[in-house]
Amino acid sequence: MSIEPRHFMDLEDFEPEVLKKILAHAHELKAQKFNPPQILEGLSLAMMFDKRSTRTRISFEVGMKQLGGHTVILNVGDIQLSGAESLEDTANVLSRYVDAIMIRMSDHERLEEFASYCKVPVINGMTDKSHPCQIMADMMTIEEKLGGVQGKKITWLGDYNNVTKTFEQAAPIFDFELVISTPEDIAPDIANDHVSYRESPNDAVWNADVVVTDTWVSMGQEGKSIEKFMPYQVTPELMSEAADSAIFMHCMPIHENEEVSPAVLKTPACVIYDEAENRLHAQKAILAWCMKHAGVTIGAE
Ligand code: CP
Ligand code: NVA
Repeated sequence: MSIEPRHFMDLEDFEPEVLKKILAHAHELKAQKFNPPQILEGLSLAMMFDKRSTRTRISFEVGMKQLGGHTVILNVGDIQLSGAESLEDTANVLSRYVDAIMIRMSDHERLEEFASYCKVPVINGMTDKSHPCQIMADMMTIEEKLGGVQGKKITWLGDYNNVTKTFEQAAPIFDFELVISTPEDIAPDIANDHVSYRESPNDAVWNADVVVTDTWVSMGQEGKSIEKFMPYQVTPELMSEAADSAIFMHCMPIHENEEVSPAVLKTPACVIYDEAENRLHAQKAILAWCMKHAGVTIGAE
C-alpha cells in the first residue's frame, strides 16, 4: 500500500495541534543539538532553489546531516527543468531518488502543481505567497524568549509581503494578535479576526510584545522605490513604544538603515541570531514530521 505524501506547503493547511507538536519536537531537538538523534539515517533530501538563500539552504543541509541524512542541492538553472523538461517528469524522477524535496520557488501555484506530482513530501522553502518554515522558527523563538505565543501582541512594520502573509496565517493558529502597519496604499485586506491594520507605526507598536519587520524590497522586486516606507523603519524611538520586555525579530537578510536602524540591532531586544538558529531546529522537526507521515521515518515523533 502506498502512503500519500504529506507536504509542508502552508501553515493554514494544518490543524493547530499538529504544528504545536512539531514545535515541541523542535525544542526537544534543540536541547539535543550536541547529541542529535539519528532519526533520518540513510534518508535523502533534494533542495531546489530558483532564488538566493543563505539560511534556508544551510539550515536544511546541516539539519538533515545532524539527523543522519544527506542532501542534494539543485539550482533550478542547472537542471533540465529550466529547459524543456516538465514539472511532472521532474517530480516523478526526483521522487524515485530522494525521500523528500525542499523547494524555494517564486510562483506558489507552480510549487503546488509540482507537489501534486511528487510521491515524496515537498517542503515550501519560500514562495511569493508564503514562508512557513520561517514562521515556525519565529514561533519557536517567541516561545523561548517570552514563554509562549498565545495572547501576545505582534506588530509587523513595513512592506506587506510573503512573510507578513504567513504571520497572518499563523495568528489564529497560535492565537496571537497581529497588528500590521504599512503605507496606506498597500494596506492589506484583513485576513482574519486575529489581524488588524494601523497606518501609524507608533499606534501599531504601542505595548507590542514583538516588533517584526522584513526587507522592503523582496527578491524579484529590485528597483522598487522605498521612500514611502521610511516612517516604518524600526528605530530605538519606535521600540520604546513597545512593551518593556519586547523583542525585535527579522527573518534576515537585513538592510541596515532601511527597515531597521543599526542601533536596534545592538540592543538586547534584538533576537535575530537566535531566530536564525531556530530555522535549523524547527526544520529538523518539520523534516521528521514529513518523513514520518510518508511512512519512512524511524522513531521520530
Ligand atoms: N530568512 C531566509 O529565508 O533567509 P535566506 O533567504 O537566506 O534563506
Ligand atoms: N520577503 C523576503 C524574505 C527573504 C527571506 C523575500 O521574499 O525576498
